[in-house]
Amino acid sequence: MTQLGFNNKNLLSKRIQSVPESFIRNILKVATQADVISFAGGLPSADLFPIDGLEAACSKVLQTNGKKALQYSSSEGDSELRSWISQRYKEKQGLDISPKNILITNGSQQALDLLGKVLLDEGDPIAIENPGYLGAIQSFSLYQPTMHTIAIDDNGLDVGQLSSILNSYEPKLLYTVPNFQNPTGISYSQQNREDVAELIAQSNTLLLQDDPYGELRFSGEQKSNFYELLPEQTLLLGSFSKVVVPSFRLGWIVAPDWLMKPLVIAKQAADLHTNYFSQQVISQYLNDNALDDHIERITAFYSQQKQVMMDAIEQYFPADAKVAESEGGMFLWVTLPTGISAMALFDKAIKEKVAFVPGNPFYVGDNIEENTLRLSYVTVDEASILEGIKRLARCIML
Ligand SMILES: Cc1ncc(COP(=O)(O)O)c(C=O)c1O
Repeated sequence: MTQLGFNNKNLLSKRIQSVPESFIRNILKVATQADVISFAGGLPSADLFPIDGLEAACSKVLQTNGKKALQYSSSEGDSELRSWISQRYKEKQGLDISPKNILITNGSQQALDLLGKVLLDEGDPIAIENPGYLGAIQSFSLYQPTMHTIAIDDNGLDVGQLSSILNSYEPKLLYTVPNFQNPTGISYSQQNREDVAELIAQSNTLLLQDDPYGELRFSGEQKSNFYELLPEQTLLLGSFSKVVVPSFRLGWIVAPDWLMKPLVIAKQAADLHTNYFSQQVISQYLNDNALDDHIERITAFYSQQKQVMMDAIEQYFPADAKVAESEGGMFLWVTLPTGISAMALFDKAIKEKVAFVPGNPFYVGDNIEENTLRLSYVTVDEASILEGIKRLARCIML
């Protein structure tokens, strides 16, 4: 047999070629070296994982319900878990959401992918926060939409920009993280939510509220969920990653009836259903333990860590460095004095064995604030936070 010589040049789809390579992966490769103090990660603190409670739940599920828990199951997800989520929305946010409108997904990351699959064709307009969550940008990119960016600040979305994008492009979807946003840590104010909801109500756009950090509040008042302001046009994403553990890969979508069926078809085509064993274990864990007590432990620890980082920044960074107002979550967003490039600072900082994520990769398009950076305060101990911020400050002054 004569072989022409294998050539992989034209084999990859346009779809995958259109996805930006994750710059963060490259950063994390350097940042996770053992002697580096890393504020770069986006992981929750593993010291707070409820390992004993999950071990007990695992054994109980296997002992009492093993045959069912290890079998294939429904694409929509475990009915008890969906009921628990529905009740939690009622208790914590006063929202009436039926379990039949909840689809369990493989983390909220899969929810983003499924929504892309069922809503977006190539070139379709969508609107996203700028800077925004990289995982959403990457997920949506696979469906090759046209992305329109909307600036955010301490108050929330720029409603002027939103209004003009709604009028000019009629986006199918507006992607938002209104509580303790990734990467900036900011939350939309109550007034901003109402203004955004009012604009969306006059459009044919769906508002997607991604909310993995919403329960990690350290201070301030809970604000309205967009579902309360705009029930027909709001889709909600939720996740157990930041309040229990990320490795179970358990998240969910809240969607109206008309969207549930296409989402379930897309879910079946992707993986039949989310890991049923982890759904059963988390359900058992939630039955036998008070999640609120666990969340209280997480928020007490994270808010203390945040304070240590804020105090160190105040003491060592230049006086005109600004930290975005944040009442919870896992991140601080720093704007350095004008003219300092966070990308260039990253190279200097790595030599001093301290890492962070420059703001650059979180922006889509040309409106990049080069002097911004994201710092995570949750996985580094207090002494290392202090030392890391001192080193970073030295690099800024160099
Ligand atoms: C804003 C946002 N959405 C979604 C996710 C994905 O979370 P998961 O798939 O673990 O639920 C993350 C993870 O960091 C995130 O920050």
